[in-house]
Amino acid sequence: MEIRSAAVIGAGVMGSGIAAHIANAGIPVFLLDIVPPEVIEGRGNDRSVVARAAIERMLKTEPAAFTHKRNARLVTPGNIDDDLEKLAGVDWIVEAVVENPAVKSALYSRLDAVRKPGSIVSSNTSTIPLKNLIEGQSARFAEDFMITHFFNPPRYMRLLEVVAGPDTRPDAVAGLSRFADTRLGKGVVACKDRPGFIANRIGTYWIQAAINEAMDLGLTIEEADAVVGRPMGIPKTGVFGLVDLVGLDLMPYVSRSLLKTLPPDDPYRSIHREPELFTRMIAEGYTGRKGKGGFYRMNKSGGARVKEAIDLSTGQYRASEKATLESVGAAKQGLRALVEHPDKGGTYARRVLTGVLGYAASLVPEIADDITAVDQAMRLGYNWKYGPFELIDQLGPDWLADALRAEGKPVPALLERAAGQGFYLTEGGKRRFLTVAGDYADIVRPDGVLLLSDIKLGSKPIKRNGSAALWDIGDGVVCLEFTGKMNALDGDVMALIQTAIGMIGDGENEWKALVVHNEGDNFSVGVNLGLALFAINIAMWPQVEQSVQEGQETYKALKYAPFPVVAAPSGMALGGGCEILLHCDAVQAHVETYMGLVEVGVGVIPGWGGCKEMLTRATLNKKRPGGPMPPIAQVFETISLAKVAKSAEEARDLMFLRPTDGITINRDRLLADAKAKALELAKDYAPPEPVALRLPGPTARAALDLAVDGFRLQGKATPHDVVVSSALAGVLSGGDTDITVEIDEDGLLELERTAFLKLVRSRATIARIEHMLGTGKPLRN
Ligand code: NAI
Repeated sequence: MEIRSAAVIGAGVMGSGIAAHIANAGIPVFLLDIVPPEVIEGRGNDRSVVARAAIERMLKTEPAAFTHKRNARLVTPGNIDDDLEKLAGVDWIVEAVVENPAVKSALYSRLDAVRKPGSIVSSNTSTIPLKNLIEGQSARFAEDFMITHFFNPPRYMRLLEVVAGPDTRPDAVAGLSRFADTRLGKGVVACKDRPGFIANRIGTYWIQAAINEAMDLGLTIEEADAVVGRPMGIPKTGVFGLVDLVGLDLMPYVSRSLLKTLPPDDPYRSIHREPELFTRMIAEGYTGRKGKGGFYRMNKSGGARVKEAIDLSTGQYRASEKATLESVGAAKQGLRALVEHPDKGGTYARRVLTGVLGYAASLVPEIADDITAVDQAMRLGYNWKYGPFELIDQLGPDWLADALRAEGKPVPALLERAAGQGFYLTEGGKRRFLTVAGDYADIVRPDGVLLLSDIKLGSKPIKRNGSAALWDIGDGVVCLEFTGKMNALDGDVMALIQTAIGMIGDGENEWKALVVHNEGDNFSVGVNLGLALFAINIAMWPQVEQSVQEGQETYKALKYAPFPVVAAPSGMALGGGCEILLHCDAVQAHVETYMGLVEVGVGVIPGWGGCKEMLTRATLNKKRPGGPMPPIAQVFETISLAKVAKSAEEARDLMFLRPTDGITINRDRLLADAKAKALELAKDYAPPEPVALRLPGPTARAALDLAVDGFRLQGKATPHDVVVSSALAGVLSGGDTDITVEIDEDGLLELERTAFLKLVRSRATIARIEHMLGTGKPLRN
């Protein structure tokens, strides 16, 4: 079954986001909502105004709902009174209307009358059981119906929970799951038809437990978030920060609907509370980031913006204070060190974890067939680094069982089964998990999924140093992984690239190609600035120059290596992390790749061949109208404004990616796609031809300088912006040249290097670097 067209009914928060994301997959989609009462009453004549306004809203939301604005053209607005017949042609209809069974049911009957046989209908409900949804519908409808529960925002949250009913056609479930995986990039988790499915069932318990214990133990909200965030591998928003993010007003709504359907003896019932403080905050509009503020808020005080936090005992805002709990520091030694720490943070961590992990262990197989589904759901739906069963393994199943007994709580059967062994183990390089039956089964990846973390379990690196490693990923392909803090680039990375070039290029082994990839949140945010500043501060100029030259030579050697090099980035690829991509034969980018040459933010220009490669690309771009100036001006604008593409599709517009570079929507499929591309290129590989450019020289520079001066007069460019831009203009215009002379790549690199080294010695640049290191933000000096 293939999905070539779709429709989403309900253009609210979720429906419009889902429609946008279906469009991101290149699929045309109708977005229908009601004809609003005021239009029916004659005020206004756009009967599809709700859906149309939703598309407009999607074009403006941050973070963006569309991976490229042009995708909005694939979304056709309409209304359920005039346009329902149009659904006769679509393969998949997603219902995302209000969470009201009667409204959903009435809509399904109407849909069933118009839809084509075999088309799939799915609901985005978060709380209504499937069995209730199909009550009273035709047998045919029940066969084609399932729940597809997206998380907000649909483009970015990777989890898709899928629930099939007893009558749902298995081929429909398989077809839709495959579509969601390969075209929407989702991690599909099969759930049972139980309240809250997996992620919200456990997540709601976790939030409630974390709030209750913080209040009972008298922790400040900063302390609570410091404990239940990072130390547990949970985003640093912790619990109060998370509630601010999703909206405090959603909490009673979600918990009440869960309470309606949870089993009578469910442990959530005994911990559920609605503190009076929260009710008051909601009533007064303090619902979080979308409201007047939440548990945290930014307040203006004497002209300055100060972060404030709610005092849980008084309900009043006070200046936010950084938590200073010893237990948080102890967590560096592992989760056990955290929960066994004698301070209140340790007690807090122990109580929250025993509660939520014991709860999770009691729910398998009730909510899922196995523990991997639960772990996957919490990782992808709540952005936990480790799922509940992985966390239990870190504590030890026996430790948790003892802790539950000590608290007088029952020990779940599954936890007893894991005693003495653990929920996961690695055998023969394969990760295995404890099944409900009590034996261990292999974790099997779907076809087309290749994970570096799996390869690492079963092998040792071919070579490694402090900042990078080389892995054998099979079929003669080597993977270069950055391993330093935040995947920063330094001399060690360059050295290992040189090693890889020698090793693969010598033809002595079976190596055929190199893939540059890692599984960090960010591919690389560039050079190790701390190290650079250290060298600058003690005026080690020869070393600074050497590191610039070494980077240039290494990237150039990568470009001209006698084998194909394919990069597979995801997340941010900035500065030197972007420049390495510009030198690869091909890039297979995850759609959520954010590329940019942001060097001007720290007062320099791209110095590892970034200017050269962008200029070459723009100049050789045949589509561009003649003359040397337009490509120079385009690259100048991209680099001087430090433009960052907010998706791989946008990176094509900025020429960071070429039309021939590929985009993979599911991160888990990225490495396999890149490897396939590398093997394809390896078949009859020849390195690229060297290039030489004819550039206009000082006349072009003067034109660019003039433009920057205009910005300065308008107050858009700071004094040091002018200095940096002028240096960039000097490089991009070709230095002291004219159009009759050719400049080869080494000539361009020399221009880059000279300009870079001059800038890096200036006080204003050093101030920018220091500011960036201290605050993470650019200094506008
Ligand atoms: P919402 O209130 O933002 O949007 C609902 C939309 O449905 C409104 O635009 C409304 O005009 C429209 N609508 C109502 N009756 C309709 C009908 N008969 N035909 C067509 N349109 C109709 O709601 P939201 O948050 O987008 O939720 C939609 C569904 O997604 C609900 O089932 C909710 O439980 C579920 N959900 C919500 C999540 C969230 O974070 N908001 C997360 C996951 C699921």
